[in-house]
Amino acid sequence: MLVLNGPNLGRLGVREPDVYGALSLADLREQVAGWSDELGVGAEVRQTDDEAELVHWLYEAVDSGAHVVLNPAAFTHYSYSLRDAAAMVTKAGLVLVEVHISNPMAREEFRHTSVIGPVATGTVAGFGFDSYRLALLAVVAKA
Ligand code: DQA
Repeated sequence: MLVLNGPNLGRLGVREPDVYGALSLADLREQVAGWSDELGVGAEVRQTDDEAELVHWLYEAVDSGAHVVLNPAAFTHYSYSLRDAAAMVTKAGLVLVEVHISNPMAREEFRHTSVIGPVATGTVAGFGFDSYRLALLAVVAKA
């Protein structure tokens, strides 16, 4: 499966640690590697600040038949191109779990809208890095 992360998540540990915690993207990679090993599945963690790259990674998921865990970061709230690409993943019969480290519903109003949620298989939000662990479990349970 692909574990895809959107803009500013490369700054985990430095960016708003009160919201996103003190651990870095490298730490997230390590944790995801441990959880995926435990579950006996492959998981490749990627991060980009570039909307087009994220869209192309979703095409790659469709073409290779990979399930997706996606933290769309701020694109969650307004990217229709990412939504359309995410819809291709679920329409292809693959699982796509939207994840968030924080709970966007408990934050500013603009974060209350997800344009990805309606085309995702489901969403996990608000559990810190454990949101990814729960999303991996959801993929395994659903796939
Ligand atoms: C986020 C929540 C988004 O609102 C925000 O723009 C992010 C991170 C999260 O993981 O909590 O960059 O997706």
